[in-house]
Amino acid sequence: MTIQETDFAFVRDLVSSRSGIVLEAGKEYLVEARLAPVARDAGLAGIPQLVTQLRSQPSGALTTRVVEAMTTNETSFFRDAHPFESLRTHIIPTLLERNRASRAITIWSAACSTGQEPYTIAMTLKEHFPVLDGWKVRIVCTDLAQHVLDRARQGRYRQLEVNRGLPAAYLTRYFVRQGLDWEVIPALKEWTEFRTLNLIGDWGPMPRFDVVFLRNVLIYFDVETKKKIFARVRQQMSRDGWLFLGSAETTLNIDESFRRVSADRGHAYQNAA
Ligand SMILES: C[S@@+](CC[C@H](N)C(=O)[O-])C[C@H]1O[C@@H](n2cnc3c(N)ncnc32)[C@H](O)[C@@H]1O
Repeated sequence: MTIQETDFAFVRDLVSSRSGIVLEAGKEYLVEARLAPVARDAGLAGIPQLVTQLRSQPSGALTTRVVEAMTTNETSFFRDAHPFESLRTHIIPTLLERNRASRAITIWSAACSTGQEPYTIAMTLKEHFPVLDGWKVRIVCTDLAQHVLDRARQGRYRQLEVNRGLPAAYLTRYFVRQGLDWEVIPALKEWTEFRTLNLIGDWGPMPRFDVVFLRNVLIYFDVETKKKIFARVRQQMSRDGWLFLGSAETTLNIDESFRRVSADRGHAYQNAA
């Protein structure tokens, strides 16, 4: 099956306007691979019929399913290691001092996918900073896609998923067996809160964050969209807060109000103002 040019253009515009995700020419194969199962599940003969349906009901549930299907949810525990090292060696020790009056630390895992990133943050804090049990720790976990957020909230992972990046000692300390799966312990879950949030939409009320993880999502957006998101993220960060991006992402030449700071082996971004 080869997707028709007009159908591809329709899906590309729909996905871009709803999520910011850019589908360049050449991504036809991806659209076909991701949308064929959506069409099948909806009882439709194929992508042409799916597009007809989307055109007639652009605000329907099928549009949401299509946009979600076009997100890439790849993630793993301790992905890229260095942001979590920075939390341990530099950021949390600094915040323990800086926030000692409020005894509160607020972290945002934006585009958290199935939750490996926020639970890695929670494990890092629990493992190295027992004093935080007497603090208010909030890890706000958001994503556009409801299906990944449901999994993140549940905190239940397959053996293959825990095999990716999770040290064996952490598995025994922070997970319990649930049949063939592993579930995150309540002591980690109680620091987390999950909500749907579209980075290009209305964010609703949000707290100020000491640390923001915005990793491996901006790669899907164009420069204008990145600019807008950086400006909004900056406003949401506490003074001297830290922003972590994915290894292929940067604020350089996009938002000069951020400066790159070294944070252990890797780097983070802080408000330059
Ligand atoms: C590759 S995952 C990154 C997960 C995690 N941050 C990491 O680095 O491992 C990208 C996530 O971004 C989410 N996403 C894509 N567009 C989004 C948008 N407009 N608003 C919020 N999340 C979005 C996807 O649903 C997906 O779960």
